[in-house]
Amino acid sequence: FSLKEYNTFGVSAFAKAYIKATSLQQLKEAIGYCNGQDIFLLGGGSNMLIKNNIERTVVHVCLKGKEVLNNVKGKVSLKVMAGENWHELVLYCIEQNYAGLENLSLIPGNVGTAPIQNIGAYGVELKDVFVSCDVLDTATLEEKTLTKQECKFGYRDSIFKNEALGKYVITAVTFELTDLNSTDDYQLKTDYGAIKKELARLEGPVNIQKASQAVINIRSSKLPDPKVIGNSGSFFKNPVIEKRLYDDLKSRFPDLPCYPLDDLHVKVPAGWLIDKSGLKGKRYGDAGVHDRQALVLVNHGNATGEEILEVAHKVQKAVKKTFDINIEMEVNLIEG
Ligand code: EPU
Repeated sequence: FSLKEYNTFGVSAFAKAYIKATSLQQLKEAIGYCNGQDIFLLGGGSNMLIKNNIERTVVHVCLKGKEVLNNVKGKVSLKVMAGENWHELVLYCIEQNYAGLENLSLIPGNVGTAPIQNIGAYGVELKDVFVSCDVLDTATLEEKTLTKQECKFGYRDSIFKNEALGKYVITAVTFELTDLNSTDDYQLKTDYGAIKKELARLEGPVNIQKASQAVINIRSSKLPDPKVIGNSGSFFKNPVIEKRLYDDLKSRFPDLPCYPLDDLHVKVPAGWLIDKSGLKGKRYGDAGVHDRQALVLVNHGNATGEEILEVAHKVQKAVKKTFDINIEMEVNLIEG
């Protein structure tokens, strides 16, 4: 079964078999059929690099639907099934006048995979609006609900990337949003420099529609559209470094940006480090570094997963050599 259409990198790879699950019952049957093992769970395919063919059965989580669980005093609790497309959910919420997701506009992928790396952009992370998620234990087929605390969210991180790796399939996510139809007690998050600038350029009052439009404009101006050029968004995480190293680098590179964290650490943009290492826009065959945002690796056509991985290693080496900083992959590497 060809996975080319099922991963936003557009990498050609084959899997042993493919099962599409459109209901909880089908999902249970699919996992049961594979005996809890030998499966490869697929959501939106937007945060992974498939290195080679997969000797497993792909179980595609395509559960659809949304439900308002309650709506009290301007707080709406919305449960969304895992197979819903993330950006379509954002647009739906904006249409309903539900606030909270607008800064997360245009992020590729599905609702059910968003908690895995705690998607985030422009000052908002999934965890800010997350209440809980429903999961299915892949070994026992038991249904469970995990609270926000249990998910252990961090920067591009959660329990699903660590101790619970492979243990659960996320089947639904419940969000708490602000219903602007019944309250105006809501603070837009527009501090992020790029949003401020874009909002100033757009005319009219600043509201969730406008904030979403600003994010869409910014993202489309520098992030490649996976339908046009294969990619997986940020390929690396922004590294956290010691303040001492930062101060030292800052004296050599006065324009080094940073996101302050605590007294001893700062986070620095990997895109900037890659850019300054001279790799922005570089191309090796069909694999390369994007020319408008160096944090993004791209497939110009027929690059293989291994070729993209080779470019990733080149980038890591160059950044290490120039800055003595290790940058970690953000996307999940899928092997065998
Ligand atoms: N920069 C460069 N050259 C580059 C890229 C960036 O100099 O090629 C500089 C920018 O000028 C800016 C700084 O680096 O001063 C930060 O760039 P940007 O605002 O684009 O954000 P980022 O830190 O590179 C992170 C997220 C993005 C998210 C943006 C906005 C990570 C790994 N990435 O990128 O997330 O959209 O902030 O909040 O944290 C994603 O996860 O797929 C993603 C796109």
